[in-house]
Amino acid sequence: MKIDVLTLFPDMFLEVFEHSIIKKAQSLKKVEIQVHNFRDYAFDKHQQVDDYQVGGGPGMVLKPEPIYLAVEALRKLETKVILLTPQGQLYDQKRAYDLAKEKHLIIICGHYEGFDERILDLVDYEISIGDYVLTGGEIPAMVLVDSVVRLLPGVIQEESHLTDSFTDGLLDYPVYTKPIDFRGMKVPEILLSGHHQKIATWRREKQIEKTKQKRPDLWEKRRIDEKI
Ligand code: ADE
Repeated sequence: MKIDVLTLFPDMFLEVFEHSIIKKAQSLKKVEIQVHNFRDYAFDKHQQVDDYQVGGGPGMVLKPEPIYLAVEALRKLETKVILLTPQGQLYDQKRAYDLAKEKHLIIICGHYEGFDERILDLVDYEISIGDYVLTGGEIPAMVLVDSVVRLLPGVIQEESHLTDSFTDGLLDYPVYTKPIDFRGMKVPEILLSGHHQKIATWRREKQIEKTKQKRPDLWEKRRIDEKI
C-alpha cells in the first residue's frame, strides 16, 4: 500500500511514523508513507494556502488551488482520496478494514477554520474520528494511518487483530500475564486449565458480558445487525 499525506505541518508526523508498528510496516515494505507539505504546491510567490471567506465571516479558509495541484500530481487510477474533517462519516474498525484493502490513499488534513467547499469534488471519503473538533486533520490522519497499517497482511499476526475489540461488533476479552496471583487478584482458574475449547468459550462469554456492560450501544447494534 502507498499512503500520501497532505498537510501544512509535516514535522508533526516525523516521530509518529518512525516508531513501533508503523515503522516496522515500512521497513518490511508493506507500506510506503510520504508526507507532503501542500504549501509546496502553492503557486503564488507568498505560497499562500488560505484566504478570507468570500461573503465575509471569521477565520481563514484553505484555498482550493494548492490541494488540487497536490492531488493531481499524486493521484493514480486506483487512488482513494480522504479528507479528514469533523463533518465526515464517523470512523470505525469496519472502515479501517475496508481502507486496508486499498492500494493507494491520499489523506488531506483540513486546517484552520475550514476549507473551500470545492475541495470536496476531489474527495472520495470525508472522515471524522469523533464528534469533537480538533485544531486540524493531522492527529486524525495519524489515527487513520495507524489503524489501517496494523491491518495490512504481514504487519502483525492476523490472529491478533481477529480478536481485536470491534472486529465482530464486540469488545476484546480480558487478558492476563504472570504473576498468577498479584496482590490477591488471581488470574481466572479456567485460563490455567490448558483446555483450549473451554478457554475459547469463556473468552467469548467475557466478550459478550463486557460489551453489554461497557458499551450497551455496541451490543444493541450487534443485536439489530445480526437479528439476535
Ligand atoms: N479535524 C478537526 N476535527 C476533526 C475530527 N474530529 N475528525 C477528523 N478531522 C478533524
